[in-house]
Amino acid sequence: MATRLMVEGGAPLRGEVAVSAAKNAALPALCAALLTSRPVEFENVPALADVTTTRSLLEGLGGVVSTGPDGATRVQVAEVTSNEAPYELVSTMRASVLVLGPLLARTGLAKVALPGGCAIGVRPIDQHLKGFQKLGAEVFIRNGFVEARASRLKGARITTDLVTVTGTENLMMAAALAEGTTVIENAAREPEVSDLARLLSAMGARIDGAGTERIEIQGVPELGGARHRVIPDRIEAGTLLVAGAITGGDVTVTGADARHMSATLSKLEECGAAVTVSGDRIRCQGPPRPRPTDLITSPFPGFPTDMQAQFMAMLGLADGISKITETIFENRFMHAAELARMGARIETDGSTAVVRGLRYYHGAPVMATDLRASASLVLAGLAARGRTEISRVYHLDRGYERLEAKLGSLGATIERLR
Ligand code: EPZ
Repeated sequence: MATRLMVEGGAPLRGEVAVSAAKNAALPALCAALLTSRPVEFENVPALADVTTTRSLLEGLGGVVSTGPDGATRVQVAEVTSNEAPYELVSTMRASVLVLGPLLARTGLAKVALPGGCAIGVRPIDQHLKGFQKLGAEVFIRNGFVEARASRLKGARITTDLVTVTGTENLMMAAALAEGTTVIENAAREPEVSDLARLLSAMGARIDGAGTERIEIQGVPELGGARHRVIPDRIEAGTLLVAGAITGGDVTVTGADARHMSATLSKLEECGAAVTVSGDRIRCQGPPRPRPTDLITSPFPGFPTDMQAQFMAMLGLADGISKITETIFENRFMHAAELARMGARIETDGSTAVVRGLRYYHGAPVMATDLRASASLVLAGLAARGRTEISRVYHLDRGYERLEAKLGSLGATIERLR
């Protein structure tokens, strides 16, 4: 059933809201359960469409996923009964590629549908595959599938040509069961990579340097079970704080980790917001009108590409001109055209967007094109005069847990229309 979101703008958002666990940490963590026949328990898996897809993926490979009395999610793949990740699932969620490394390492065979491109870019996985070949796997691409085979992976030195988050995660998981030592150079330093390393270490892996550009993994013959609490979602937290800033409100997120968000928080301050951190609480008091600022997306600890769309929505209301440079994905300005339907003045040219701020957005029917673009349209709708109706909100459900309820608890008028 198609649903749309109706957002009535104009109210400054106020109050406190708790952050959920991170989608981009939960997905690789769930896939890591494939590395062992023992149960792995997760205290706080978020209720997201992508988590449901991952669950189906694991069940299709022989996993049993259940929810304990304490609400923890328990995953056990006592035996891998299939080595194939089907196109139906992979085509709905690129992160399905994260079963490749664990399947290959655990069973010596992985067959995963090639994830095609998506709205934000071509998104090849050549670095993942090159890394598996370095670990001694034979890798074939045929009939739309990647097939990787190895009797036992062997440790190696891998230098990726560019920083890749899921690439680093896939290779780290594969190397955990390889024979000997693997070194990943130019590794991604995202907090989600460190959180995965924390889980793998709890399962018995020997990993050093996660969170830095050089990760060293001493392979072990087998891994055990573990209990894991997934880190908070820095992108959801950032989105909620921008909701406070763009409406001139006063929002506090709880259960967040400011250490994972320094680039986002300092950009909020550059836009004129007052940001206060105390423990796991981050407060953002919005300016009467955002100040213009320039931003360039880059790998962690740089400014996250997953916050670019939300900031574009805010800078569209700034008192001046801002320049946004997107360096990670080649097609991540789809939201600009939709914001323009609300009156925004944004000129995009390749990887650069020039945003001429205006005083007010006007509510309009708009269409979500990807996960973070949909968040930017919700934020613009909250600041707009009148009603905004956002279609294709299934994009939003992939990565935001109960967003309407959370924004509603801060005073937003937002409703899902079926
Ligand atoms: C992860 O995607 C996140 N997804 C993305 O979040 C996030 O935008 C991205 O990292 C960057 O931070 C998950 O963690 C599930 P990359 P990933 O490999 O790993 C190119 C969201 O909104 N590349 O770091 O797929 C690639 O095309 C999503 O939550 C290759 O060329 O991103 C891109 O231009 C969207 N070859 C760049 O590198 C490769 O083998 C970075 O991609 C791998 C990547």
